[in-house]
Amino acid sequence: MKNYIKHHPWEIIEEGFDPSLNRVSESIFSLGNGRMGQRGTFEEDYSGDTHQGSYVAGVYYPDKTRVGWWKNGYPEYFAKVLNAPSWIGIHIKVQGDVLDLAACKVSEFRRVLDMKRGTLNRSFTASYPDGKTVRVEATRFCSMDAGEVGAIRYRLTPVNFSAPATIRLDIDADVVNQDSNYQEKFWEEVSQEAREGAALVTAQTRKTNFHVCTGMTYALQAGGKPVTGKVTANARPKYADNVVEVVLTEGEELTIFKYGVILSSENHPKDRMMKIGGEKLQAARLAGFDALFNAHQAVWAHTWELCDITIEGDVAAQQGIRFNIFQLMQTYTGKDSRLNIGPKGFTGEKYGGSTYWDTEAYCLPFYLGTSDPSVARNLLVYRYKHLPKAIENAAKLGFKDGAALYPMVTMNGEECHNEWEITFEEIHRNGAIAYAIYDYVRYTGDENYLVQYGLEVLIAISRFWSQRVNWSAARQQYVMLGVTGPNEYENNVNNNWYTNRLAVWTMKYTQQVADWVKRRDPAAFDRILSVTRFREHEERTRWNDIIAKMYFPEDRERGVFLQQDGFLDKELIAVKDLRPEDRPLNEKWSWDRILRSCFIKQADVLQGLYFFEDEFDLESIRRNFDFYEPMTVHESSLSPCVHVILASRLGYTEKAYEMYLRTSRLDLDDYNHDTDDGCHITSMAGTWMSVVKGFGGMRVRDGKLHFAPFMPDHWTSYSFRLEFRDRVVRVKVNRDKTETILESGEPIEIVMNGKSVVLEPRQATVKV
Ligand code: BGC
Repeated sequence: MKNYIKHHPWEIIEEGFDPSLNRVSESIFSLGNGRMGQRGTFEEDYSGDTHQGSYVAGVYYPDKTRVGWWKNGYPEYFAKVLNAPSWIGIHIKVQGDVLDLAACKVSEFRRVLDMKRGTLNRSFTASYPDGKTVRVEATRFCSMDAGEVGAIRYRLTPVNFSAPATIRLDIDADVVNQDSNYQEKFWEEVSQEAREGAALVTAQTRKTNFHVCTGMTYALQAGGKPVTGKVTANARPKYADNVVEVVLTEGEELTIFKYGVILSSENHPKDRMMKIGGEKLQAARLAGFDALFNAHQAVWAHTWELCDITIEGDVAAQQGIRFNIFQLMQTYTGKDSRLNIGPKGFTGEKYGGSTYWDTEAYCLPFYLGTSDPSVARNLLVYRYKHLPKAIENAAKLGFKDGAALYPMVTMNGEECHNEWEITFEEIHRNGAIAYAIYDYVRYTGDENYLVQYGLEVLIAISRFWSQRVNWSAARQQYVMLGVTGPNEYENNVNNNWYTNRLAVWTMKYTQQVADWVKRRDPAAFDRILSVTRFREHEERTRWNDIIAKMYFPEDRERGVFLQQDGFLDKELIAVKDLRPEDRPLNEKWSWDRILRSCFIKQADVLQGLYFFEDEFDLESIRRNFDFYEPMTVHESSLSPCVHVILASRLGYTEKAYEMYLRTSRLDLDDYNHDTDDGCHITSMAGTWMSVVKGFGGMRVRDGKLHFAPFMPDHWTSYSFRLEFRDRVVRVKVNRDKTETILESGEPIEIVMNGKSVVLEPRQATVKV
């Protein structure tokens, strides 16, 4: 765990430059706007350890799979988000000497992420070996208002000299992915153009043929007046720049405004991209930095109005939660149903930038609570569009008749994960996609979604479950063999309780939805019958048989559900009895030792109890929590939040807070020593859930918001807002009272600690 980020409610602050922390900071200080993003790397040259990462949403490369032993059914490739052409470079040479923080003496270094306004600010003083000293103040943002535009204001002041200098402003498409399986370069040349005042490069991805046009223009100013200098425009394959010759005058600030555009062929015709790019550059330059910035920060102001969580009495917690919200909001804006949320967002390459079940199980509730319902809907529509591929994917594995298996990892609907125990066995992801439909409809009341899209997906997933189980003559029950539950520290187990439960739940829910659609819109139901070739009677009969006769492992004596058939054969040891040097297990133990152990990577049975909480009494939840939590090592960042939610419900407030700390500052404090790879974006949604569903006790039952808040000992108050069915409801929890305020929309009935209350506009309801 590191502790170098200064605490501040709205800013992430790094003071002093420590090259050994640079990659961690580059992840933390990442910027994005839903369409593009980049790590918090430097504009000027840096010859030290860095991972220059720029990403364009939806642009990926199918990197040929590399595995030792091929198994039938493995996908041929792993789709990877591409490290994309970079537009941020501002390369400075003073009298031929490169400004490079690895070669200069650096002082007064500050890197600040201003979360309120969405900017990355950096300032430092750098002295060359010969004593020449410059002061730099840089501000950069990826416009939340104009999604294809980014801007930099770079102020350069020679502190103790006057000298000629060159400023090279470039677009560099000769970039590589660190995680390339065969050290291939993924970008090929298309065209480049450099003229005085602008440079544009279009590059194309190999195999997938995405075109990305990246351009830049700039303006130089000193004392509020334009600075002109001799300009040389250079272009070569995958590269274009302008080199401007200037004379730096001691004590006089030179301001460089650099504007970047990134266009993808997903949004523009390929043959017009250079032209449109040029036009957008011109518009950005004409608008200027201040106007672009004002529009950008206005979007952030509005976003924060809806989604901010305030915490009083604990600045570290306040900073942590805002950082999580900030990263989520700049990763996915919900405007485009072709896009999704990679576990690392725009902050790194790990996990290939692809879609996991994280989206449905963790991110969806965050966007439901903080954004217009269309945002969460788009996440569901994304999976609807992938339904034909999910059916194909299942067919490749031998399933039939329209059964769908959604991929564990995907970019375009095709599976691209290739470890058999996950690809073929971690099938619970399919259930999370069904559950997300339920969760969305329960929260928004948008039942129309079921008619338009939802039912088709549910039928296909139920079909998969009904084919995946088999009848056990020995048990006289249905079983599900050879699966991996959410706890990836057990593979190829039989009857993972969570997966069995999800399967049965999906088959029940699908039938409820089918009945409802049939009643509500018979014509639509007929359409769905014919599209899906749903043999209603026959298929439902089978589903109902499975529902009635499914086997769920449990230990009646202990009163707990069993994670899988063999769980009790394991030596049951508590995590607290492990030697500190054994942790984290995934780094210290062999894989087979992990698999044989009882230690749990992430919530598994507890994930099921979280999803289906209302089906269980509190004592069952308690017994299972008490049994599994002590064996859980939380080596997935998705784990602690589920524990916060259940612990809060059980009144285990200290445990809830302890778990909360693990999730809220996971990246800021580099808890797991892996933030250098990128931030844990999807688990950040879990932090939000920890406050809202955990401490705030928020649930939706019968179309109503319920709350059962408690106050962590270390805080004096906290508040959050929820977007709920055309209303905005704010909940403010103090030590002695909870205020619930209807900030906008029609009166609404809520349930606070079991009591119904009607909220009238702007009237605070106070519970003492
Ligand atoms: C977790 C998965 C998760 C993936 C991406 C893994 O470590 O075990 O549940 O989907 O990370 O976040």
